[in-house]
Amino acid sequence: MIKIMFSPTGGTRKVVSALAGRRNCEVIDLTDWETDFDQVEIRPDELMLFAVPSYAGRVPAPASERFSKIRGNGAKAALVCVYGNRAYEDTLAEMVDLAEEAGFQVIAAVAALAEHVYFPEYARKRPDKKDRKRLAEIMDLIEEKVARDNWEKPFIPGNRPYKERKDPSFYPVFHMQDCVSCAMCLASCPAGAVREDYTPDPALCISCTRCIKICPAGARSLPKDQVLALQEKIAPQCEGRKKIELFL
Ligand SMILES: Cc1cc2nc3c(=O)[nH]c(=O)nc-3n(C[C@H](O)[C@H](O)[C@H](O)COP(=O)(O)O)c2cc1C
Repeated sequence: MIKIMFSPTGGTRKVVSALAGRRNCEVIDLTDWETDFDQVEIRPDELMLFAVPSYAGRVPAPASERFSKIRGNGAKAALVCVYGNRAYEDTLAEMVDLAEEAGFQVIAAVAALAEHVYFPEYARKRPDKKDRKRLAEIMDLIEEKVARDNWEKPFIPGNRPYKERKDPSFYPVFHMQDCVSCAMCLASCPAGAVREDYTPDPALCISCTRCIKICPAGARSLPKDQVLALQEKIAPQCEGRKKIELFL
């Protein structure tokens, strides 16, 4: 099995780990902007898990750009979209199109939840024990479909044309006076949006918050007022515990 994923802050990775369990997997990391994805080819007999977080109801732009370079060679694909308890809107529909254009056969899709990176009270501590159990069951069901050699594409929700791609509502703030020049942000920003002098490039930043999470000196943070303003706007859509969905 091959996992192709984009997980700047680890929520998507947790969901994929719960799905894959102890199965032997090769991992292709779409956050690595130095990989030459043109060289990545998948064998036709592989099962591929393609997983991304939902960003404003869409696939994050760098993930879509990098994934579209990969050649699927007719391999079966299960799509996994991970969101923070608001909504995933057209993310799965966009993933279907990306996977098919890359030459995969889509046989399943999952919408699962992970803690919202901006508002940890939404989907707090998910995927939790209950989610992990359900995700393990889901993977068994997908493998049963593969074993039956069933290539049928299930109904997968979403609109075409997709929602318009939105720029982030805010960007991490850089506190230059606290920076210790360790260069971790520069090396690991999935969008290549940290300049040589560690200042952010807003034209490239996708506001994924990885730089905030990995900075050992606390030199980056979210702009609190703007986070609160967004939370007020989206709070009604984030209520309740949303369920994991399987399209098989
Ligand atoms: C830029 C951005 C946009 C997001 N948009 C949505 C959204 O539209 N709906 C939602 O439920 N969660 C949204 N989230 C929350 C993420 O989907 C969620 O936190 C996910 O677990 C992050 O994945 P990662 O931990 O693998 O990086 C957004 C997060 C970011 C950073």
